[in-house]
Amino acid sequence: MLIPRNDLDFSFGPTQFHPKADRDFLGWVFDQFLYGEVTGIQCGYWLYRAPTLAAASFLARQAAEELSHVKRIIRIQTLLGVLPNKPHRAVKFLSTGMMGGSWGEHVCMEMALGEGLVLTIFYALAATIDNPEIQKIIESAIVDEEKHVEFGEKETLNWLKRYPEDRSTLLAEAVLQAIAMRWLKNFALKKIPAGHPVLKKFPEFYDHTVSQFESRVFKLGLTDVPLREIGTFSRLKLLLLLPLRRMKMRFRRSTRKLLTETYLSDGWLVAPEAKNPAPPMDSAL
Ligand SMILES: [Fe+2]
Ligand SMILES: [Fe+2]
Repeated sequence: MLIPRNDLDFSFGPTQFHPKADRDFLGWVFDQFLYGEVTGIQCGYWLYRAPTLAAASFLARQAAEELSHVKRIIRIQTLLGVLPNKPHRAVKFLSTGMMGGSWGEHVCMEMALGEGLVLTIFYALAATIDNPEIQKIIESAIVDEEKHVEFGEKETLNWLKRYPEDRSTLLAEAVLQAIAMRWLKNFALKKIPAGHPVLKKFPEFYDHTVSQFESRVFKLGLTDVPLREIGTFSRLKLLLLLPLRRMKMRFRRSTRKLLTETYLSDGWLVAPEAKNPAPPMDSAL
């Protein structure tokens, strides 16, 4: 990953969430994740439009993993003794409202940045919930999410190498994502019980999460200057031009053919071993 776990980790100190005393807050947190994991069904949409057989294979596996995460979140909520509930509108916007219309948007916004955010919060939850079974469930989901982020980063870098003109569109979408994060933060602050020993560090944790998000935006090459140094006027310009740029980007990239038309020139078939196949079984006898 462009940012290793060590850098994404945040220390809340020795205090932990108690599964019983903090069940309402934790239940709300996992309601957000439950929705996010259900949006894993989007893998099906992208599997149909995958640019390579390798990407299709990855998405098929990812779909199974995301659906298994749904079950794991339900198990966590059962352990907490809470019933699943609706997500906040900002989470719906981040997961569904911002669903990409092109492969570049999907791998950048959903996978590299979106799942990168999820991962940062998963690391924090795995370290702070005082329950071995819940910790084990989150750690097992982390193994999958790390692969999803890594794939998203690699595909985004390839996309930008091929289509550098899409950089501003993706940057504007990242700015929009940061705005939705702030919206969610303000709501989360209202949910936090006053004087909670873990959550008193929440504002610091939020700043850490945003700074790692910005660092990933920078490392993906979406901007030459750190996101926080982009002035208000430039941000506004990015956001105002976004609808038009997005429309142009989606129109230009929509002509891509499906794998059923392109598979003969796919990397899987033109790889060295495919070009020099082993002799037919009969001649080997
Ligand atoms: Fe997941
Ligand atoms: Fe994922």
